[in-house]
Amino acid sequence: MLTIEKILEALRQVEEPELKHNLVKLNLARNIRIFDDRIVLTLMFLSEQVAHREELVQAVKDTLKGIGASEVEVETDVLGEKEKEALAERIRQEHQAKVRSKRSGGRQALASESDAPPLLSKESKTQFISVASGKGGVGKSTVTVNLAVALAREGARVGVIDADIYGFSVPDMMGIHERPTVVDKTIYPVERFGVKVISMGFFVEENAPVIWRGPMLGKMLKNFFQEVEWGELDYMILDLPPGTGDVALDVHQMLPQSKELLVTTPHATAAFVAARAGAMAIHTEHEILGVVENMAWYECSECGHKEAVFGHGGGEKLAEELNTDLLVQIPLGAPQNGTPEDPEYSPSIYKADTATGQRYLELAREVIKRN
Ligand SMILES: Nc1ncnc2c1ncn2[C@@H]1O[C@H](COP(=O)(O)OP(=O)(O)OP(=O)(O)O)[C@@H](O)[C@H]1O
Ligand SMILES: [Mg+2]
Repeated sequence: MLTIEKILEALRQVEEPELKHNLVKLNLARNIRIFDDRIVLTLMFLSEQVAHREELVQAVKDTLKGIGASEVEVETDVLGEKEKEALAERIRQEHQAKVRSKRSGGRQALASESDAPPLLSKESKTQFISVASGKGGVGKSTVTVNLAVALAREGARVGVIDADIYGFSVPDMMGIHERPTVVDKTIYPVERFGVKVISMGFFVEENAPVIWRGPMLGKMLKNFFQEVEWGELDYMILDLPPGTGDVALDVHQMLPQSKELLVTTPHATAAFVAARAGAMAIHTEHEILGVVENMAWYECSECGHKEAVFGHGGGEKLAEELNTDLLVQIPLGAPQNGTPEDPEYSPSIYKADTATGQRYLELAREVIKRN
């Protein structure tokens, strides 16, 4: 059976002739989708006019047929300027690290030796935002990914850490099928819709017992800050596990500089339990950025009538209680994003030109204003 891992392993054998590194290391093979024994993927090029275009497409097809694909469809795209610069920078840094490592008698260069200030240092200009709620299922992950994409659409440099060790969902929600690239000890995040993403799910065995996961979280989070090459970021958004348990507390203590965004539904009980999460933020001296009320209403597409399916007032009440603001209300409604075969498909990201997409842009602007 074809799996993403097998495909990536095969593509590690295919070299980009100009950059002289394999496609996986360079993260040029993206949006890999498997339909039984048919593979569809997007191959990124440095520019429209690369001489070896056809050869490289053919090499990818041949390689994947070699591992059992009956049909390989290669869509092509061109890297944006920013990404091209980032790639060049990465190769340059790697080269320097190699030189340094040679000089130091073969000792491996650590990521922390790179020039960019570590994310957690005092000089770091990155604003951390933890997305929290009192209870599960209110839309924390949905808000995390859409706020991140909206901030990127506004021109910010954004990272996301999916720290929900019990139910990592961010990669699926954003339509990410790749795994991060690891070079020596450095992990390069996966980029999607202009957002750099790292998820616990990339590193935890799918069916590892949940009981092992809690104690791993703190350690993994620390690794995420030390060993992931994030580059310069304006915002780092964390999707936290639900509730106010030990895990959430750990994260709070590890990131004293983080601000909190609280998500609730309009229902009074949801707002009540979210207040507990807010109380924890206050207790651990985290600034509360504001409240997002999700699933605020359902608007009938036929007649435009708005029905408050989950009641109303929860967001406002919570904001009042925590002495903060209700930043935005997001209505009910799943994004309409075409089919999984579309390279821009993702199950949970609202397009910028939809009503809900606009509301997330409003939220992004509020967040930018408050930082
Ligand atoms: N505004 C919305 N309209 C319709 N569906 C939504 C909306 N917000 C979230 N959902 C859906 O509700 C479900 C729960 O959302 P999500 O996973 O974001 O919540 P969560 O708080 O992160 O949950 P968990 O506590 O399990 O991590 C998902 O299936 C999501 O697609
Ligand atoms: Mg979640």
